[in-house]
Amino acid sequence: MEKIIDENKQGETLVLNQKEGNKRKLFIESYGCAMNFSDSEIVASIMSKQGFNTTQNLEDADLVLVNTCSIRDKAEQTVRKRLEKYNAVKRDHNPKMKVGVLGCMAERLKTKFLEEEKIVDLVVGPDAYKDLPNLLAEVDEGREAINVILSKEETYGDISPVRLNSNGVTAFVSITRGCDNMCTFCVVPFTRGRERSRDPQSIIEEINDLWNNGYKEVTLLGQNVDSYLWYGGGLKKDFIKASDIQKATAVNFSNLLELCAKAQPKMRIRFSTSNPQDLTLDVVHTMAKYQNICNHIHLPVQSGSNRILKEMNRLHTREEYMALIDNIRKIIPDCAISQDMIVGFPTETEEDFQDTVSLMNYVQYHFGYMFTYSERPGTMAGRNMKDDIPEETKKRRLQDIVDLQRIHSEIRTKKWLNKTVEVLIEKESKKSNKQWSGRTSQNTVCVFPKGTYKIGDFVNVKVTDCTSATLIGEAIGYSENN
Ligand code: SAH
Ligand code: F3S
Repeated sequence: MEKIIDENKQGETLVLNQKEGNKRKLFIESYGCAMNFSDSEIVASIMSKQGFNTTQNLEDADLVLVNTCSIRDKAEQTVRKRLEKYNAVKRDHNPKMKVGVLGCMAERLKTKFLEEEKIVDLVVGPDAYKDLPNLLAEVDEGREAINVILSKEETYGDISPVRLNSNGVTAFVSITRGCDNMCTFCVVPFTRGRERSRDPQSIIEEINDLWNNGYKEVTLLGQNVDSYLWYGGGLKKDFIKASDIQKATAVNFSNLLELCAKAQPKMRIRFSTSNPQDLTLDVVHTMAKYQNICNHIHLPVQSGSNRILKEMNRLHTREEYMALIDNIRKIIPDCAISQDMIVGFPTETEEDFQDTVSLMNYVQYHFGYMFTYSERPGTMAGRNMKDDIPEETKKRRLQDIVDLQRIHSEIRTKKWLNKTVEVLIEKESKKSNKQWSGRTSQNTVCVFPKGTYKIGDFVNVKVTDCTSATLIGEAIGYSENN
């Protein structure tokens, strides 16, 4: 890995990709989920071999790549606005600049992008990044280029990502790509294709490499990590046809977690996202067994109403979800659980919404991400259901649960008052340059005076105060993990 450490205007440490001899400049930015940010690191690695170093400055970029998100209409509008900005920069300051669109919007809109947005020269879907060198050659010759073919195999397992905008402490490692779940509201199965798992060997190698480069925490990424399954490659349905030997040596998510935890016993391991229908108690037992696997499960439920869950094609009931929560808490009493919720899904009545409220009251999530329903063209709900909940109702329901979540988050943070937590220091606190900021095993942010500690240290912090989202404390020494 060829890297230099640079300082940006905000004073945050950035790791840019600077390989000696590379002449061209790449400006790359990402929107949406962690997977997009992780994919951009793979793209930067591919582009580095094509003679591109990254730049933070649009005005001297030879190539701009924007990794896009389609999950809600608003996400797409944000990208459209950025394209206007690139247009202005190209017109006023940088006529040589070429622009490429990557990710989910590229996959969803395909050639429409080239027709609708004159600024766009290049359109590349999430499985086609290895084709970038060929596509770029087309663009260099003045042609537009596009590849949006989805793959049954591509996992980029053989590419070692360049860590962009990294704090040098935490990193994402992707373990599966695509999703086979077909929730009726969700565009991801259309933009990211069928689910594939990555060879565990290459995952472990990436984790070892990160450890050797000073990283202290990895987050294993997938749309649905609990359905991870490696038996030699291919789609899941091929597993039925696989030989007995392949089946006997297959690695599921629980096995993978264990392999990762053992490979680097001091590396913190996180994972995201878990779908309740696929999370097994084996995984929870593995979490309990290894101290370095963090006690946090992001477990989106989307709705507390059985009728809406069914309409969403979420394959579990409210009662099954509650039983799962009870079981997790039996096995790991202080496990943090977080949520994603959608309000205003088509046909959602006030009673359905109250089921969501009561489920939240039952679980008292540590934190969550809440959204109003956004109809996505091509999805089952988009095709078959009328987006019939008025915007005002959606907004009011959203505000209600955002307020409720704040109350629950505060109940959760208050439980840590006067207790000692282990924090991995990630960066300077945004509010004060005299304070460090890091996270606990439960994924709660904790700030405290810097003392003589440094970024990357594991410290024990006595919690003296808190807000709904942040623990505030004093460091009392290195933790035994240090
Ligand atoms: N399994 C994925 C989910 C991706 S989408 C993961 O790894 O996180 C993230 C969240 O966006 C979903 O959990 C859902 O709450 C929300 N979402 C997805 N489609 C949506 C839509 N059409 N409207 C509103 N919110 C949506
Ligand atoms: Fe989307 Fe459901 Fe998969 S929310 S990413 S289809 S698990």
